[in-house]
Amino acid sequence: MVRIHDTLDTAWLDSSSTSGATQHDETLGQAAFALHLDEIPLEQEQEGGADPSHAVASADAEHRSVNQQPDMKLVVISNRGAPFDPNKPQTSGLAAALEPVVERSGAVWMFSSENRGDGTERPLLLVKAGEGHVAELDLPAAHYRGYYRDYSNSILWPVLHSLSDRMSRAEEGYDSYRQMNNFIARAAFDLRDRDAFWVHDYHLLPLAGDLQNLGIERPTGFFLHTPWPTPDMMERVPNYRELMKSMLEYDLLGFQTNRDLNNFVASLRTYFGLESNDGVVTTERGQTRLQKFPIGIDPRQFAEYLAAELSPAEQEKISSLLQSFEGAKFAIGVDRLDYTKGIDKRVEAFNQLLAAEPGSISLLQIAPSSRADVDEYRKYKEDVENAINHVNAEHGTEEWRPIHYTNDPFSQAALARLYRAAHVGVVTPLRDGMNLVAKEYVAAQDPKDPGVLVLSKFAGAAEDFNEDEALLVDPNHPEEIADAISKAVNMPLDERVKRWRSMMDKIVSYTIHDWSADYLRELDKSRIAVPADQFHHLGLGWTNEAQMPLYQNYAAALTAYNEIDPADATLKEAAYADVKSAFEALAVPLKHTQDRLWDLSAPTASRDGGRGQELGARED
Ligand code: F6P
Repeated sequence: MVRIHDTLDTAWLDSSSTSGATQHDETLGQAAFALHLDEIPLEQEQEGGADPSHAVASADAEHRSVNQQPDMKLVVISNRGAPFDPNKPQTSGLAAALEPVVERSGAVWMFSSENRGDGTERPLLLVKAGEGHVAELDLPAAHYRGYYRDYSNSILWPVLHSLSDRMSRAEEGYDSYRQMNNFIARAAFDLRDRDAFWVHDYHLLPLAGDLQNLGIERPTGFFLHTPWPTPDMMERVPNYRELMKSMLEYDLLGFQTNRDLNNFVASLRTYFGLESNDGVVTTERGQTRLQKFPIGIDPRQFAEYLAAELSPAEQEKISSLLQSFEGAKFAIGVDRLDYTKGIDKRVEAFNQLLAAEPGSISLLQIAPSSRADVDEYRKYKEDVENAINHVNAEHGTEEWRPIHYTNDPFSQAALARLYRAAHVGVVTPLRDGMNLVAKEYVAAQDPKDPGVLVLSKFAGAAEDFNEDEALLVDPNHPEEIADAISKAVNMPLDERVKRWRSMMDKIVSYTIHDWSADYLRELDKSRIAVPADQFHHLGLGWTNEAQMPLYQNYAAALTAYNEIDPADATLKEAAYADVKSAFEALAVPLKHTQDRLWDLSAPTASRDGGRGQELGARED
């Protein structure tokens, strides 16, 4: 530890003993210092030019103040990216969530291209996307299958959704998974000078360690879009201990819900005996903060989709679909064709409902194909289609088809129209991180005549919407889903409006932009890489090792100033100018530190003893 207490002590005491020498002395006092810190103009803090997020924030003046991202040059990394074209279908909730963030924040977003490479490292090609850029990577063919199909989607995916029966027994994917993370980290090396890295989803759990091994020391956060299961479930993943340890290389781990966060904390306790203290886990590396950030949507943009023009082909498709429901009630389900989505149970619910209440409602099930190279997905598609054919044969007539089913993907604008026309939104996954379809369905409703949301209690969205709002069901029990749909179909208008209003208020009060701004503000607190126990309190506020030379300059200038005879006004004036500039050099980083200290352990903080004014309070 640097010891400068003596110098500072002397400087400060000397300075106070010369009070009255000149009027400048007042400005060197402790109280005046605090004032100066508050007065530092914003521009000084935000060197490096205009922050695009501020422009957005002022355009959104009516929005809550939380919707403001810190000024940071961000790198976003995920396996899947977004199309950045409103007429193209969104491939996933992750892509839908990150597209507006990148467009607004000026981030660089790295993700996998559709092409496979030979593993040769190439310079990143950045393509403009709104304020930001995308950099697509040709992931190496040799490891792609092991990384994506085997380990990510045949092992991690089912276990993260607590469906270990769907897990493949193959274990060979882990090496490829690690190699691929390593490849992606090396590709990110070109971006090492940006301010922070934000990594997404289970494909990239160990990426932070790989980035650090390459010497990239920027704050690195991770957000999990899927659920996190209980410890006994996670244990079924080969190499789960190594994997979880590697996650503690991140500075910030974000989860969708309290349930996921608590399961993760329980896993750390069970496997490593690690406890989280107020959401902070301390390891040899430093600290990892754990927090919940429930993902949202952009409701205003969704409203705009309702008015957006569709391509002629899509318009034609939508019109013919809506025509087939003319005059009759219909429910809508929109899911990737994935066994976690519970589509088979939903179809069985319709089977039971139509047996009890023939012809009461039909279902429009949109289910774009997904991960077709994974056996479980192929099998699931067959099961769903057989079940749908059975219901249609059993309950359909010449004029009426109970279930309309398509694997076609639709643009967000087309979906918005379909959501609005549907009387019931059925979102019944067996497990889901959040499920943005639930929020999109609500956002698309007519306030005067809204539809009803039937929601799985195991979707993350059920932590946001309670039973006075959505009709919550156990997605494993078709009879519960059938009852809820029947209740929704017969629900009086005033109850529908009341439930919808309450959900809509929540959607508007915490949008996707609040979500990203909240996350990035937390990540920004990690910018100071010095662990909390290496902070000092030196009278002017908390400081760290890196700021010590600035303190020393300030102390030396102050000493020199105090040593000059007050009678020598010219010299005194010049020395004062030196003190002032040394002070200014220190003030900006020092203020930055004060703003970003988030967790000083009690013993460290109590060194100050609340005195705050005392110099050299810490002995090291
Ligand atoms: O939201 C979970 C997720 O796995 C995302 O990471 C992914 O982009 C999306 O579902 C769709 O899956 P895939 O990228 O495998 O098609």
